[in-house]
Amino acid sequence: MDILNRVKNYREEENRLKWEGTFAEYLEIIKDRPEVAQTAHSRVYNMIKAAGVEERNSRKMYQFFGEEIFGLEEAIERLVEEYFHPAAKRLDVRKRILLLMGPVSGGKSTIVTMLKRGLEQYSRTDEGAVYAIKGCPMHEDPLHLIPHHLREEFHQEYGIRIEGSLSPLNTMRLEKEYSGCVEDVMVERIFFSEDKRVGIGTFSPSDPKSQDIADLTGSIDFSTIAEYGSESDPRAYRFDGELNKANRGMMEFQEMLKCDEKFLWHLLSLTQEGNFKAGRFALISADELIVAHTNESEYRSFISNKKNEALHSRIIVMPIPYNLRVSEEERIYEKMIKQSDMAHVHIAPHALRVAAIFSVLTRLEDSKKQGMDLLKKMRLYDGENVEGFNQVDVEELKKEFPVEGMNGIDPRYVINRISSAIIRKEVPSINALDVLRSLKEGLDQHASISSEDKENYMNYIAIARREYDDIAKKEVQKAFVYSYEESAKSLMDNYLDNVEAYCNKNKLRDPLTGEELNPDEKLMRSIEEQIGISENAKKSFREEILIRISAYARKGKRFDYNSHERLREAIQKKLFADLKDVVKITTSSKTPDESQLKKINEVIARLIDEHGYNSVSANELLRYVGSLLNR
Ligand SMILES: Nc1ncnc2c1ncn2[C@@H]1O[C@H](COP(=O)(O)OP(=O)(O)O)[C@@H](O)[C@H]1O
Ligand SMILES: [Mg+2]
Repeated sequence: MDILNRVKNYREEENRLKWEGTFAEYLEIIKDRPEVAQTAHSRVYNMIKAAGVEERNSRKMYQFFGEEIFGLEEAIERLVEEYFHPAAKRLDVRKRILLLMGPVSGGKSTIVTMLKRGLEQYSRTDEGAVYAIKGCPMHEDPLHLIPHHLREEFHQEYGIRIEGSLSPLNTMRLEKEYSGCVEDVMVERIFFSEDKRVGIGTFSPSDPKSQDIADLTGSIDFSTIAEYGSESDPRAYRFDGELNKANRGMMEFQEMLKCDEKFLWHLLSLTQEGNFKAGRFALISADELIVAHTNESEYRSFISNKKNEALHSRIIVMPIPYNLRVSEEERIYEKMIKQSDMAHVHIAPHALRVAAIFSVLTRLEDSKKQGMDLLKKMRLYDGENVEGFNQVDVEELKKEFPVEGMNGIDPRYVINRISSAIIRKEVPSINALDVLRSLKEGLDQHASISSEDKENYMNYIAIARREYDDIAKKEVQKAFVYSYEESAKSLMDNYLDNVEAYCNKNKLRDPLTGEELNPDEKLMRSIEEQIGISENAKKSFREEILIRISAYARKGKRFDYNSHERLREAIQKKLFADLKDVVKITTSSKTPDESQLKKINEVIARLIDEHGYNSVSANELLRYVGSLLNR
């Protein structure tokens, strides 16, 4: 069985990576590869960078997060550039707790989990290797063995700056086990693992009355006090708090702001001075990234409390808003569905899209820009063309609300509604209307929505529905044309030939008979009327198209069906108008005749083969579009 082989390979790999040697031998390693001795923050940053950085539209895309986090490129870029990067360079932000602030289910925990899993992997690579004093419960940095007075010289020679003092436990071990011979102290390579509690910790507050600071900083081991004679013997102490275990890596502090203050004070000293107090010992040095997360209202009430003032400056807040791009939102749902027990369900095309449209609309802020509305803004954010606006406008829109997306519907809510829509249906197949219906019904049960929001949300559902009606009609109409693209193209070529002849006052030649013809005014008008071009405006519209064609030609580009958005729309509408009656009669006929039946089967087959429907959803779509066309 392959899986057993894989397990075996993993174990062998682990053995191959293992290393232990004396401190003297360790110094040889870092002479060659000083990166081995980097700080926790620097390791995290290098890990993120190592996954690759792509520049797109002068925006940096960090691929480290790319597989799990969608549509948050800006927030991630800010997180890396304003926290991880300067922290890696030992700038002051490193001494602060990183607090991810954002709305519920907006991806905060996912980001933290990716960092944890990433570190586990990275510590198994050459670039990310970590070494520690062997047998130390805190995997202490071996360089702490170098006495303070020699560190400046060490820096000169090795280029590595050492921070922190040897811990009380290892100070004692150095004396007792190694008779003070630093060079003999054993060092080993360690591998981060949350399960084994190496370099990765998680702290989540429980009942404040019963929670013990020991969870964070370890505790006295009463069973061994008798042996060592005193509580202040470090061997009688268990350095097994989350802060201890996370040394060299990272600690996640869940619900930090819900936590009792005394816990926060420990963090204050740790982040500020790089050490914390445990038991009766001198301060213990630790080097770790501390990440916490919270929502906006919790954060506001935290900073409004005077008692917390000293902590404010020790925290760096990074907003993690909801994604605001419809197509990225679809990817989020796809991912969540794949990870759920709904993975086998057929989800009809556009079902996730309408949900995404709804969600994004609930998150967007109204713009004051002239001629802008929420739907246009949504399209622009998603990179679509909107008549009259361009990329500069998008930048301006974003500047209107520096942190947009801190409110609205969360992805988990949508997934829950999809799942309850599935439960209700007899067949494991759901379509866009099922999803919209379920979203709407859910609003009544959603306790935290104000009645004002609810009214807006109902309106967004209606907007999403209209978008869907449009998409559904187009899809069916396309499926009715034998080869849609080709028909559209030939209709357009025909139109352009006529426009050219009209503008140049030429004649056309009939391809069959060779006879000279005047431009076909009726054909041209029948297309132009589709997009509301009046008799008076037709001349300038036609001339504009000719100019566009020659501009394309000058650049060596081909003017085609996709080059002119309004023209494309006109062609499409014309094709559909010609078809409308056929589609209408065929889809709504209760007792289709033989030829209608044949057509329906053809269309269904095309929907299944080319557009991703199954037979249930294709039939549902036809019925729905039939009812739309007969309204
Ligand atoms: N921008 C996003 N990209 C990818 N997945 C997301 C995004 N936002 C939320 N999710 C998904 O939504 C769910 C909830 O996210 P989570 O990280 O637990 O949120 P939080 O910790 O902010 O409450 C997860 O399944 C997560 O993968
Ligand atoms: Mg969370």
